[in-house]
Amino acid sequence: MKKYIMAFDSGTTSCRTLIFDSEFNIISSAQKELKQIFPKPGWVEEDPNEIFSTQLGTAVEAMAKMNINANDIAAIGITNQRETTIVWDRQTGEVIYNAIVWQCRRTSKYCDSLREVGYRDEIYKKTGLEVDAYFSATKIKWILDNVSGARERAERGELLFGTVDTFLIWKLTKGVHVTDYSNASRTMLYNINTLEWDDELLKLMDIPKSMLPEVKETAEVYGETAREFFGEEIKIASAVGDQQAALFGQGCFKKAEAKNTYGTGAFLLMNTGDKKVESKNGLVSTIAWGIDGKITYALEGSILIAGSSIQWLRDDLKLIDSAEDSEYLANKVSDTEGCYVVPAFTGLGAPYWNQYARGTICGLTRSVKKAHLVRATLESMAYLSNDVLKAMEEDLGALKILKVDGGASANDFLMQFQADIIDREVVRPKDIESTVRGAAFLAALGVGMFSSIDEISEKFNIDKNFIPNMAAEVRENKLKLWRKAVSRAFDWAEE
Ligand code: G3P
Repeated sequence: MKKYIMAFDSGTTSCRTLIFDSEFNIISSAQKELKQIFPKPGWVEEDPNEIFSTQLGTAVEAMAKMNINANDIAAIGITNQRETTIVWDRQTGEVIYNAIVWQCRRTSKYCDSLREVGYRDEIYKKTGLEVDAYFSATKIKWILDNVSGARERAERGELLFGTVDTFLIWKLTKGVHVTDYSNASRTMLYNINTLEWDDELLKLMDIPKSMLPEVKETAEVYGETAREFFGEEIKIASAVGDQQAALFGQGCFKKAEAKNTYGTGAFLLMNTGDKKVESKNGLVSTIAWGIDGKITYALEGSILIAGSSIQWLRDDLKLIDSAEDSEYLANKVSDTEGCYVVPAFTGLGAPYWNQYARGTICGLTRSVKKAHLVRATLESMAYLSNDVLKAMEEDLGALKILKVDGGASANDFLMQFQADIIDREVVRPKDIESTVRGAAFLAALGVGMFSSIDEISEKFNIDKNFIPNMAAEVRENKLKLWRKAVSRAFDWAEE
């Protein structure tokens, strides 16, 4: 009997595979970090072949650890870093350029020019997105404009585009070229009202339609893995952008339910039901999932840097040895000694959308020590999340609780500070792997292990509730200084 679901989490900084039993307990896992390439300040790339081989390697490892055969696996669900752009040859599979990672800022100037000539509103109405280098469209254009011979090859129909989900599926199935609604909605080429690739936007960016994948539902069988990978074929039954996967994996199935995931970035999403909401406060609209012919939308606040600032403390500044050390150090001091870190390493996302903002440290004095700097970096995640939450509440009304997940949500200091700063209860589930859980649920749905979403609703358990416990005036004072620090980061890299 096929009893397991294998979920791939192809993230920005690592690839992971988790295997779930039929009760959705994790029974095996494997993880490997991915190399990040920074060719110029503000540019971020990865090697697509490394993404594929790393992802595959973790799958093989996770299966081997528990002696699991392909025959035992009912389906694979893929969840992935979104927007990251890969272009390859339809015949040979050879990639023509590195993956341009969602964080990459190389097309900022082109985005400015689109806004200057008045495209902002049209693009926002069609795609739900702000014109920003973050999304795939301008990255595809950059590859076609800058890689020798690429445009001609694309026009002859020889090249394919895909986000990471599409590339993995194409490689694993040897040629199925698909994506799902949630990933398509992050390209800035997909019209989320008509549910079609938008011909006008394709013309504007000069991107041939033949490059684009077919857009499928979020839970359905797209194809089977070729036998060479796992010994037998396995069905691939879901491809879902990681933030939408986390919304699903947190059980936010109803309108107005929201979650915040602290991964490389932090992403606050609220389910808005079958209606797209147009934000007046710098948030983007996106497709959460498409299941059984029904589209569910979400409002999203994307914070470009969150957990990766902890990586920066660990790998670049060498202030800590492990991410866990950050909690220990933050708790050793009672505040940040007036120090604020704004980790705008790749600009600021929602609600500011300042492409030229750069990282800033304010309020340094001789009494600021390592622990204060570490604490200020952790606190910045909570401040940035608060900025997004307040924007969302202005659009849609007050939230009662905020569900949290992702690596840094394990940090009790950060979660308590988050509750204090937003002045709302923060709820952490027992299993903070909501992203992979979402992908596993969706794949199970895709192969009929659940007959409807309602059957999944019972599968959630709370670990801890964080109750706000900060005096209003203390909070207001901190927020005032935070806003001042953010304003110092604005436009730094603008020439
Ligand atoms: O939009 C980018 C997002 O999908 C990346 O998520 O957690 O892999 O950094 P993460």
